[in-house]
Amino acid sequence: METNYPVFIQSEKLKRLYDYVKSNYSSPCKAHGFSHILRVLKNISLMIENLDINKDIIYAAGLMHDYTRDPNRISKKHAEINAELSKKILHKFKYSKDEIAIIEKAIREHDNKKEINRSIYSTILFEADKLDTFGKEGFDRWIILGTGDGLSRINTIKGVLKIQFRFFNNYRYKLNVSKKLLKEKARILFDLILDEIGKEEFDSLINKHNGEEFIEFLNEND
Ligand SMILES: [Fe+2]
Ligand SMILES: [Fe+2]
Repeated sequence: METNYPVFIQSEKLKRLYDYVKSNYSSPCKAHGFSHILRVLKNISLMIENLDINKDIIYAAGLMHDYTRDPNRISKKHAEINAELSKKILHKFKYSKDEIAIIEKAIREHDNKKEINRSIYSTILFEADKLDTFGKEGFDRWIILGTGDGLSRINTIKGVLKIQFRFFNNYRYKLNVSKKLLKEKARILFDLILDEIGKEEFDSLINKHNGEEFIEFLNEND
């Protein structure tokens, strides 16, 4: 049966890899299902529109970055594991050594929240992945993860603000398209949170977790 590929999956090489990853995808965590991969790929497609990027490389990194994960999220090492796996798998799909090295590095670095010396491919994957912690889908993913870890819904939501404010204060998105997407998706996420916890609590959490700069960023004119 003919697969319906996302429009940006165009080369035969990518189509073969897409089929392979889709049918073997083994992330048992619901917040990291194949729909997460599809959204990351979509983010990537928007981010690279005006960049000179090898599509076979960046989409392979997107496809494989969460290929397998620990079901209980005990292992924080999924980036390492998937980087190693990508090395083993990609040569079967006619990726060269140099291409695999770029992909492997991007996957290895996608869960490292520090400001490190990333390649453009690593930056794109990192930001495309982080953007999926925002928006309505991001909100739903947080609830799955937080409640799966035994937190109440309300504590999960409060924790999301803390994590997102802290991350924004530590990492500045490099690509203009990422900043634009961040603005759109963060507004949606924060509105959903505001609806659940109310303005007073929301404002006190901004204060408590140094969220002022993030909120200012969201209120800037586009
Ligand atoms: Fe990941
Ligand atoms: Fe991911």
